[in-house]
Amino acid sequence: MARKPIIAGNWKMHKTRQQAADLANALAAQVGTYEAVEVVLCPPYTALETVGAAIRGTRIALGAQNCHWADSGAYTGEIAPPMLVDVGCKYVIIGHSERRQYFAETDETINKKAQAAYRHGLIPIICVGETLEERQSGRTEDVITTQIKGCLSGLPSDKVAQSVIAYEPVWAIGTGQTATKEQAQEVHALIRKLVAEMFSPEVAEQIRIQYGGSVKPQNIRELMAQPDIDGALVGGASLEADSFASIVRYE
Ligand code: 13P
Repeated sequence: MARKPIIAGNWKMHKTRQQAADLANALAAQVGTYEAVEVVLCPPYTALETVGAAIRGTRIALGAQNCHWADSGAYTGEIAPPMLVDVGCKYVIIGHSERRQYFAETDETINKKAQAAYRHGLIPIICVGETLEERQSGRTEDVITTQIKGCLSGLPSDKVAQSVIAYEPVWAIGTGQTATKEQAQEVHALIRKLVAEMFSPEVAEQIRIQYGGSVKPQNIRELMAQPDIDGALVGGASLEADSFASIVRYE
């Protein structure tokens, strides 16, 4: 069965509730009934409920940008997976490079968060990606291999098959410098091969792999034309309705 494309907007630390409602309402009007692509909005925690209300009754899904690995407990400032389910999330981004860089997330904690997401029926969008220095020193394959193995090891294969991986080269995030379609496809093919080896060829066929890093209406089409690119995780260009809607309607 063909993989359904999935395009998610990661709003990062942007949008008050009013701004979030305006954007989500505009997107509900523009792509709320669009069927060719699964659309996910990932606002900050404070706007999850607001965005959830704005997209209710549409085909757009709600996602969070992070979660904790415990179900509850003394973790001041953290949010647990059942709370995300309670507010209507279907997806949760895990291990974004900004979380790895500024909040010391590791492959090990990402693995625990993925397990926690599965326990509560959330679908994780697990992020991997090399830095510029790692790419320039020829270590991209090693870095991605280590990240994929660390993030996915021991996870149940039926859940992995339903999950989403986002390949986001750190040097392409927010820089305007997109990976070329060839660079992206090469790493996506590597990720799919690793998943086939760790789990099975069937799991690798099913899992969806998004590209992220300066995705724009101008480059989405050529990226999506690559055989192993199944979607996009969009930052800056998801903050404005017209640009995100035209990314969603790339065909
Ligand atoms: P930009 O689209 O702003 O480069 O951000 C990509 C990203 O980090 C999405 O998670």
